[in-house]
Amino acid sequence: MDSWLRSLTLMKPHDDPASVLLSVGGLVGQEVNLDAFLHQVVDRVAASMQADRGTLYLVDYARDELFSRAAHLPEINQIRLKLGQGVAGAVAQTGAAVNMPSAKDETRFNPDIDKMTGYRTASLLAVPLRDAANEVFGVLQVLNRLGGGRFDADDEARLVVIAAQVSQALQATSLYTELKRARARPEQPVGYFFNRVIGESPPMKAIYKVVQKAAQTDATVLLRGESGTGKELFARALHVNSRRRDKPFVKVDCAALPGSLIENELFGHERGAFTGAEQRQPGKFEVAEGGTVFIDELGELPLPVQGKLLRVLQDREFERVGGTQTVKVDVRIVAATHRDLAHMVRDGKFREDLYYRIKVVELVLPPLRERGPEDLERIARHFLATATRKHHIAVEPRLSQSALDRLKAYQWPGNVRELENCLESAVVLCDGEILPEHLPLPEGSRLPSPPPTASSPSDDVVPLAEVERRHILSVLERARGNRTLAAKWLGIGRNTLGRKLKEYGLAE
Ligand SMILES: Nc1ncnc2c1ncn2[C@@H]1O[C@H](COP(=O)(O)OP(=O)(O)O)[C@@H](O)[C@H]1O
Ligand SMILES: [Mg+2]
Repeated sequence: MDSWLRSLTLMKPHDDPASVLLSVGGLVGQEVNLDAFLHQVVDRVAASMQADRGTLYLVDYARDELFSRAAHLPEINQIRLKLGQGVAGAVAQTGAAVNMPSAKDETRFNPDIDKMTGYRTASLLAVPLRDAANEVFGVLQVLNRLGGGRFDADDEARLVVIAAQVSQALQATSLYTELKRARARPEQPVGYFFNRVIGESPPMKAIYKVVQKAAQTDATVLLRGESGTGKELFARALHVNSRRRDKPFVKVDCAALPGSLIENELFGHERGAFTGAEQRQPGKFEVAEGGTVFIDELGELPLPVQGKLLRVLQDREFERVGGTQTVKVDVRIVAATHRDLAHMVRDGKFREDLYYRIKVVELVLPPLRERGPEDLERIARHFLATATRKHHIAVEPRLSQSALDRLKAYQWPGNVRELENCLESAVVLCDGEILPEHLPLPEGSRLPSPPPTASSPSDDVVPLAEVERRHILSVLERARGNRTLAAKWLGIGRNTLGRKLKEYGLAE
């Protein structure tokens, strides 16, 4: 039995339409596998409508066509219809729903698709998907009411409610941004797998393939790349696209903690392990049970702790700090670093055995400047759209050709993160149109200015103030922004914390 059919038989008939998307709605905005998400949507819509099949069509503005983006279509890959052609094409063109009780009495029904697939359509109900501007950008269609009946007026009302939810969910995905972008620039077609991950250049496509494969396994993954290239984004994508998606994703940033605290953070401690350890405290590996532990900036992991991590990788077990009892865990490990670990191995700063254990699957994320001008423009337009929405700006600003040229000429030392921040400030500062002067890029020079750390004796020495800043930040994060709690944990007064936050530019 097809898996969609299986889930259909599991659904309660006549579920409340409002509940149709609840279980998938939470995934919107995350780095979900977009195809899997859309198919889940179609499954649920069909099941909730008691229909045999469902189809989600989207408008290809460049070609004045509708294309099926997710469908119960085991027979063919994709349907393409001219706007106005067939029932769905008519719905897209007129914006009016069509309830077709019987295919043979409907002149707009296009029998070619049934001929192609061998499927026999009897009844059909199709409603438009409208965006916030009330523009039709797709069609939601269900086929063949189960039990052989026809869809009635109540069903039509239900599908309209569901379509409004589906529209809203879709507008929060990067797919929608892409549709709109493709409308402005028809020479770049729509496509990709991961919601919120943009990029179609050959190196990015190669990465999607590996991520899709690796996500289905428990293999340890090492993500390498400069800062801001999307390492964390892909770590999360690996988790949400894995069978562990409903279990925790727990991040440990080795650069945000002083070396002496990392062991405690990862493995927890027993009561009395050190002065002040009044309670047994579980570490991140235990908190993540069943899920994924993301070890960020792995290159900063102190040598003594590396051995302990190796044991977790080999045997999935460890002892808490100050403990003798062995703890077993079921976690998937994903690590990231901007450092050259092989180099660190040669220098004796990273254990060779751990190095080989951790890079079972290794993904190297290319710097933005190597992804080509098309990807740069795609990502820039995506951030243009998201910043516009984030700041509640009614009309998306235009990106002038000269500003685009400037973006393309720049080297992006801070990669995608820098581009994201750059567009956000440009959107806020500009007046309907983004000009080069709205881009917060270094004056004149096309090259990044030399890093400010040039005068420090070595990359490896973190100034004390920076350690304090990072520590405060991470404690605040754990206290979910509660300053009173954070101050208590840090053993300082609330006012002192406030002063330090100001000092480090962490608060106004
Ligand atoms: N390919 C991409 N498409 C869309 N957004 C991206 C992409 N790569 C990175 N980003 C965004 O850029 C920012 C930095 O990414 P992040 O994963 O934190 O980088 P890193 O961990 O490598 O420093 C995040 O806001 C992330 O969502
Ligand atoms: Mg990061």
